[in-house]
Amino acid sequence: KIIPAIMAGGRGTRLWPLSRATAAKQFLKLIGEETLFQDTLKRVSDAKVYGAPLVITNEEFRFLVAEQARELGVTLSSIVLEPVPRNTAAAVAVAARIVADRFGEDALLLVLPSDHAITVDDTYKKCVRSACIAAAEGKLVTFGIQPTWPATGYGYIERGTYLGKDVHAVQCFVEKPSLEKAAALLETGNYYWNSGMFLFQAASIIAELEEHAPDVLSAVHAAVRGSTVDADFIRLAPESFSQAPSISIDYALMEKTANAAVVCSDFAWSDLGSWDAVWKNEEQNADGNVLKGNVTACNTKNSLVLSHTAHLAVQGMDGVAVIASEDAVFVGRLEEAHEIGNLVKRLAADE
Ligand code: GDD
Ligand code: MG
Repeated sequence: KIIPAIMAGGRGTRLWPLSRATAAKQFLKLIGEETLFQDTLKRVSDAKVYGAPLVITNEEFRFLVAEQARELGVTLSSIVLEPVPRNTAAAVAVAARIVADRFGEDALLLVLPSDHAITVDDTYKKCVRSACIAAAEGKLVTFGIQPTWPATGYGYIERGTYLGKDVHAVQCFVEKPSLEKAAALLETGNYYWNSGMFLFQAASIIAELEEHAPDVLSAVHAAVRGSTVDADFIRLAPESFSQAPSISIDYALMEKTANAAVVCSDFAWSDLGSWDAVWKNEEQNADGNVLKGNVTACNTKNSLVLSHTAHLAVQGMDGVAVIASEDAVFVGRLEEAHEIGNLVKRLAADE
């Protein structure tokens, strides 16, 4: 069986003001009736294929994780708590170590971000099956998505030699290129977006981390060895874990390894990283608007209007996001929604 390892420790600041320190985006109901984290759990609920999922998160989110899993009736294998955020390289290393200890070095791990919208259909299942074959042969398998615009918030994967069963070797991995670079990569027709999901054997990822990110690996090993268990929660040893450099798995490993492969996927995928992605992914009305909650729009088009609180009325707008949470309102052009990070930094400084 494949062991799902769900990374749910990110903050998702680009969806401010709905995503906050206390409720990161993966725990919000952005689309449909379930949160993105619950969507992720459902994606790996087929017990014939997947074992109970391991969730890697932090102290603040532990009850959200436990409660949202319980709501779905999903039993988790464990909820691992990071004492401080150390980005995804450390989170992946933690998952690999725990899975290797529990299920053996050759166990297969499917590492999943918890902030995506994916449609699980036969295409998706076929991609996972192809990935399993390559992973069993020692590859670090990524899932490539056909890019549709020069996004700067994603990793780009260049497809190399064909290895069989829809799997190619990775020729080159470029994490979050500049706009000019992204446009040039898109032009070649050989690059895919990195979906952020990975499939590999515990032993393969541990060996690659040993080679390319030994500091991350040794800190994490010590943190797992020194961890304490309290019911479903595993608390990593704080002194050891905090020694791990804070770096994403993409920069720490995927850009460096020679052992990666890519499944060129064509399932429906969207990273709901910013308000423009939410707008694109939701069903729009005849005016191109996505309206949610207590809102009224007049003479307005191509906009996302969402209120979790007071009645929100907009008039004469085109291509904007107006988002109201309990205690804050955001108004901005959808076109530059992915640049909200700077604004959120300013807000944090002003608070
Ligand atoms: N446990 C834990 N600890 N989880 C974390 C941490 C951490 O410190 N930091 C982030 N995560 C979780 C997030 O909650 C998210 O589910 C996932 O890890 C990915 O982190 P993001 O911060 O959302 O990464 P990204 O979107 O900027 O980039 C990644 O995903 C893109 C696709 O969405 C990269 O893999 C890109 O290459 C990729 O294209
Ligand atoms: Mg993301």
